[in-house]
Amino acid sequence: MNILLIGSGGRECALAWKIAQSPLTENLYILPGNAGTGEYGVNVEGINASDHESVVNFAQRHGVDIVVVGPEEPLVNGLADALSAANIKTIGPKSKGATLEGSKQFAKEFMIRHHIPTARYESFTTTNVDKADAFLESLRPPYVLKADGLAAGKGVLILNDLAEAKSELKQMLSGKFGTASSTVVIEEYLSGIELSVFVLTDGKSYIIMPEAKDYKRIGEGDTGLNTGGMGAVSPVPFAGTEFMKKVEERIVKPTVIGLQKDNIPYKGFIFIGLMNCNGEPMVIEYNVRMGDPETEVVMPSIESDIVDLFCAVGENRLSEKSIVVSNNTCCTVMMVAGGYPGSYNKGDLMTGFEKVNGSILFHAGTKLTDKGVVTNGGRVIAVSSLGANKDEALSKSYANVEHIQYSGRYFRRDIGKDLDKYYQK
Ligand code: AMP
Ligand code: GLY
Repeated sequence: MNILLIGSGGRECALAWKIAQSPLTENLYILPGNAGTGEYGVNVEGINASDHESVVNFAQRHGVDIVVVGPEEPLVNGLADALSAANIKTIGPKSKGATLEGSKQFAKEFMIRHHIPTARYESFTTTNVDKADAFLESLRPPYVLKADGLAAGKGVLILNDLAEAKSELKQMLSGKFGTASSTVVIEEYLSGIELSVFVLTDGKSYIIMPEAKDYKRIGEGDTGLNTGGMGAVSPVPFAGTEFMKKVEERIVKPTVIGLQKDNIPYKGFIFIGLMNCNGEPMVIEYNVRMGDPETEVVMPSIESDIVDLFCAVGENRLSEKSIVVSNNTCCTVMMVAGGYPGSYNKGDLMTGFEKVNGSILFHAGTKLTDKGVVTNGGRVIAVSSLGANKDEALSKSYANVEHIQYSGRYFRRDIGKDLDKYYQK
């Protein structure tokens, strides 16, 4: 079987690592990939994923059986529609399904229509902005303002001050996030602790994969600017059997059935961003892809053959499958470039790979050059490890982080520390 994987981050490196292990995989192509994915398959240069025709052509020329789309943007822009029109099986929804991530308003309407627990909200454009002040005044702070469209992970503002919330809303509607914020969703603030739940579906049946917690802020103790994610832990100790049962019954099932009722065929991943509010799950958002860096802890935790599951999705027989998950805990520590998420250097030589032992390195922003592997992005490399428990997994990752050297390297030393209180001593 020939597989084409779209993307270039740590998520795609983890997917490539897992796909390459399958006896079903003959050829794996990664478009465009990075220095790490090149170890598991062939990186494809010179084709832009937003050029759907070229992607379809490449897939046809190379006899690709399944395309796995890593990031959301090509899905929202219709890559899966173009592949499906050419009869190429795709893991990743067509643009209608991808609207679950591409429009927050669409996602909220979907959840309300299908009685899926989520925060109370209203949405605003310039035509009804006069009603926004009254809605904001009906909420208790902090105020949550979300750009409706994709805004590179920056479109959510959480503000304590009512006057600031009113003023920010007006700035958003006037183009603070371009057209992404011409509609703004304002919603009730949910207090609790967040986790990410991952579902693979063929549109009728589903498999719930291991859940994960990520660490979004750049600074230790969850301080400083938001990043793409600085580390992750799976499984999540505050997501026990009883809680996950509620997630399945109240959220996963109604989501998959809701897609069917709304006539939205959906093959691919659904990443449900959840808040555990005193034991009750509430949906914060849907994403139509896997998480990053969550994929870097979820893939090592799956013992089943992922390509076998992808084939079952493609052939509408996921109901025949189940998933085998490791009893271990997996942790990942993301090493980033100095200055990230602000401006940072690229092209710094990386050393020490050969000393790594007991962890898996998932490359993110790296590139293979004549002088060796160099940094090529803000998030540089994820160091993932399995252990009998969280502390064992983390100590392996942190020991191996020390081996990977490059100018300006930075990582958080407190990944998973906040979870200590949830483990039974
Ligand atoms: P999103 O881009 O939707 O993931 O939102 C970014 C982050 O904002 C989430 O990961 C949450 O930490 C936070 N957030 C979003 N919506 C809410 C909410 N209603 N209550 C509390 N925090 C929220
Ligand atoms: N780690 C969060 C995301 O992938 O959106």
